[in-house]
Amino acid sequence: MVTMATMKKPLLEAVKGKRQKRPPIWIMRQAGRYLPEYREIRERAGSFLDLCYNPRLAAEVSLQPLKRFDLDGAILFSDILVVPDALGQRVEFVQGDGPVLPPIDQEGIARLETDLFLARLSPVLETIALIKSRLEADKTLIGFCGSPWTVATYMIAGKGSTDQAKARLFALRKPALFAELMNILVQASISYLVAQLRAGADVVQLFESWALNLDEKCFRSYVIGPNTKVVEGVRAAVPDAAIIGFPRGAAGMLGEYGRETGVNMMGIDYATPVSFAVDALPEDMGVQGNLDPLRLVAGGAQLERRVEEVILGFSERPHVFNLGHGIVPETPIAHVSSLVEAVRGA
Ligand code: CP3
Repeated sequence: MVTMATMKKPLLEAVKGKRQKRPPIWIMRQAGRYLPEYREIRERAGSFLDLCYNPRLAAEVSLQPLKRFDLDGAILFSDILVVPDALGQRVEFVQGDGPVLPPIDQEGIARLETDLFLARLSPVLETIALIKSRLEADKTLIGFCGSPWTVATYMIAGKGSTDQAKARLFALRKPALFAELMNILVQASISYLVAQLRAGADVVQLFESWALNLDEKCFRSYVIGPNTKVVEGVRAAVPDAAIIGFPRGAAGMLGEYGRETGVNMMGIDYATPVSFAVDALPEDMGVQGNLDPLRLVAGGAQLERRVEEVILGFSERPHVFNLGHGIVPETPIAHVSSLVEAVRGA
């Protein structure tokens, strides 16, 4: 008998290494500004972080895209920057400017409140439990955090940047202090992800959005090392944890990340050729991606052709269909419906 408890979740199965007949699909940033129902709740909630820390509204926003589209999973609505916020380096989201934090220094690192960290994130864990209670049994619940390096780039610069120069210089000039910060972030990420899995997340994704712009030595030391430690730390507490790694811009380091970190599945950004990913990664390793989000904005025949190419290119291994980075606010909703239909019909 198929009961709620035994019903398979295709997305989770794919992450765990079982190729599905059709690739399961979800969309990075699937809850967000391209949806009018998101913008409506966002306006009511107060600040962006107020929304992230409001379990009832955050759960509602997380489930919005599944009401419109036949997706295989829901992603927790939150942000990677709740981690510094909960460590006591307060984050603000300035309309049009993105996140702003007081840039961290030696005293700031010493002041980080690791003992209060998980308690401050209890609303996020409550959100996960709420989503889980409302999610159909065949849908996968995805939790996440930012990888230590990506989070550190915001903590050090106090904002986003295109080249991460402030954080890269900090790491090269003050290696001991940088190591101290990274160590705090590794430990925080482990405890946060373990708590997410225990609260009901089926899969967790490590967003290493700023894996680009690093030479091979820096990539090994800031990206591969810390991501490996996070994966090992999570598995020490939850041995069968299903983990997706998404080192955006890993380029020539993709294979090393895939072989060494221990993640189950690799997120592939859209600048990475499908055939390159196939050649670089172990034969049986699953992949997620990798449609250019702007193809989804443009829509039409080019979108359908590319969807087919990506699916065909990854047809020899477990594949979760996704974009190669987050959906952008300009995306027409009708194009998202077409995408989901195209993947379902593949
Ligand atoms: O995927 C989802 O639907 C879940 C929610 C989610 C958000 N941010 C919501 C959000 C996830 C998984 C993230 C991850 C995140 N946040 C990343 C990694 C992924 C990536 O895109 O590279 C990063 C780098 C951040 C940091 C961040 N958050 C920035 C730089 C910004 C401002 C830029 C922007 O897009 O506005 C945010 C804000 C943010 N996070 C919004 C949403 C829906 C928009 C804020 C708003 O609604 O006003």
